[in-house]
Amino acid sequence: MNIGICGTGTIASWTSDIMNQLDDPSIVLYACATAPGFDCTEFAAKYGWKKVCASYEELMSDPAVDLVYIAVPNTFHYDLCKQALNAGKAVLVEKPFAINDTQAAELIALAEEKGLFLCEALWPSFLPVRKAIDEEITALSREFFHGGHHRQTDGRRYRHAGQCAVPGSGQEPGAGRRQSAGRRALHVGLHDRPLWGGGGVRLR
Ligand SMILES: NC(=O)c1ccc[n+]([C@@H]2O[C@H](COP(=O)([O-])OP(=O)(O)OC[C@H]3O[C@@H](n4cnc5c(N)ncnc54)[C@H](O)[C@@H]3O)[C@@H](O)[C@H]2O)c1
Repeated sequence: MNIGICGTGTIASWTSDIMNQLDDPSIVLYACATAPGFDCTEFAAKYGWKKVCASYEELMSDPAVDLVYIAVPNTFHYDLCKQALNAGKAVLVEKPFAINDTQAAELIALAEEKGLFLCEALWPSFLPVRKAIDEEITALSREFFHGGHHRQTDGRRYRHAGQCAVPGSGQEPGAGRRQSAGRRALHVGLHDRPLWGGGGVRLR
């Protein structure tokens, strides 16, 4: 798979480094491009990207590029995703996927229409620990909703349940505590650095 990378900053450097460490011949660091008016020759040489493109447009119009990895500031994700999908490329885009749900829905619809892969680069989703977290959350939800602790038909309670309640913690839903199951899960998903590189799992 020939990868084209848009952006040559921090995350682009990390990802290039990691792809090189994978040493997988099916992953080819093929083309790179950076912000208008800047040159990425040095970046290409450092990480072994084969081709330096003068613009994102040039990169996306190269028929040899299979997947475009978008690693630029958030405000440009939507436009570049759209350009890449319209150029017929699979897309991996850095988080956040887009800046609102309208943009996200439009991109997903475009990818579906074209039958193209489109994915947000939220790496924890692809770690084995994700499965364990899903199972734990499912078990907790089952206990919470069906275990008799907080069985109510009040929709408001159920909404609070997702945010604030941890069964068995003595913590009532809606009690004002925001260090919640939902929020903790988000932290695990987005920010728990020890997950990176398999350095152990820490559920704070
Ligand atoms: N998944 C993660 O763990 C993770 C970590 C850090 C950053 N990110 C995301 O990656 C993206 C890039 O973050 P970063 O820290 O690498 O930023 P950065 O500023 O280090 O690099 C951004 C790169 O985008 C390009 N760029 C800059 N200005 C541009 C412009 N005006 N038009 C087009 N391209 C431009 C340049 O190549 C620049 O090097 C952000 O969306 C950020 O949220 C994700």
